[in-house]
Amino acid sequence: MIEMKNDFLSILDLTRDELEEIFVLADALKHDNTYRPMLGQSAVLIFQKPSLRTRVSFEVGISQLGGHPTFLSHEAIGIGTREKTSDVAQLLSRYVNLIVARVFDHGMLQEMAQYATIPVVNALSDLSHPCQVMADIYTIRQHNRLREGLKVVFVGDGNNVVNSWLELAAIYPIHFVLACPKGFEPNAGIFKKAEQAGLSRIEIKEDPISAVRGADVVYTDVWASMGQEAEAEARKKVFAPYQMNAKMMSEAGPQAMVMHCLPAHRGEEITAEVLEGPQSIVFDEAENRLHIQKAILVKLTGNAVVVRTLEHRNHNL
Ligand code: CP
Ligand code: NVA
Repeated sequence: MIEMKNDFLSILDLTRDELEEIFVLADALKHDNTYRPMLGQSAVLIFQKPSLRTRVSFEVGISQLGGHPTFLSHEAIGIGTREKTSDVAQLLSRYVNLIVARVFDHGMLQEMAQYATIPVVNALSDLSHPCQVMADIYTIRQHNRLREGLKVVFVGDGNNVVNSWLELAAIYPIHFVLACPKGFEPNAGIFKKAEQAGLSRIEIKEDPISAVRGADVVYTDVWASMGQEAEAEARKKVFAPYQMNAKMMSEAGPQAMVMHCLPAHRGEEITAEVLEGPQSIVFDEAENRLHIQKAILVKLTGNAVVVRTLEHRNHNL
């Protein structure tokens, strides 16, 4: 069995084989809800930002796997203010088996992972959103469209979701195009790593209309991410030509699937007509957060149970 790195902070923590192994595991978990590899285990969910999908899919997923989730809001524990991140990580490692965290500063996740002796999962940071893109690519596979060279065009802000798409492009060969206004490009370090991996064709374009032509997937996300609310009005002007609307979709073609990580702002980055139209797969995408995250959790914690049980038996021989 493939051993996975004991944290999931980035898609770069995976190899292509591990990605495919997680797909197969997610398929199995989707069809068999009786498997309880987290029985007797507990997990803490720390959220510094709001969430619907991520929080519910992790809480429900952990319960379905037999584990016990405890949700902690940022206000409740004051991570980095009331208490040092490293102390929180060390203390939680004494109580529970897993930390799932949604934070502003990605460095906080890295510090948690450094000090925790249990797996840490990135539930979104300002830098990346790996669980989202894992669900996205799994959804494309579910629709029988996953292939080498798959053309994914992300229209909008070069944000955390885009950074995770670039990380995916470093382990699986796709054609990834970001259509964004100047000044809204993704993280330069992640972009460079994705290019250096030499696996995918990666482009950044300013013109969304020529970018979407022939796409397998046209994807968008909010123009102002959580934490950027003060910039929302200014961004509406800059991003107006990047709205996913019927005209853009007619340029893309009927083969193009519409994706959005949600929550969506209808009438801003996407029209209601496109979000709810026949090319949209956004609710499959949202549902798959549950299945793919369960598979990731099994990889991170399920094996550990088996390993610990075997160690215990050996010790008692
Ligand atoms: N897509 C996503 O992560 O949604 P939430 O912010 O509701 O968790
Ligand atoms: N880019 C968005 C994603 C929300 C799931 C944000 O960070 O707010």
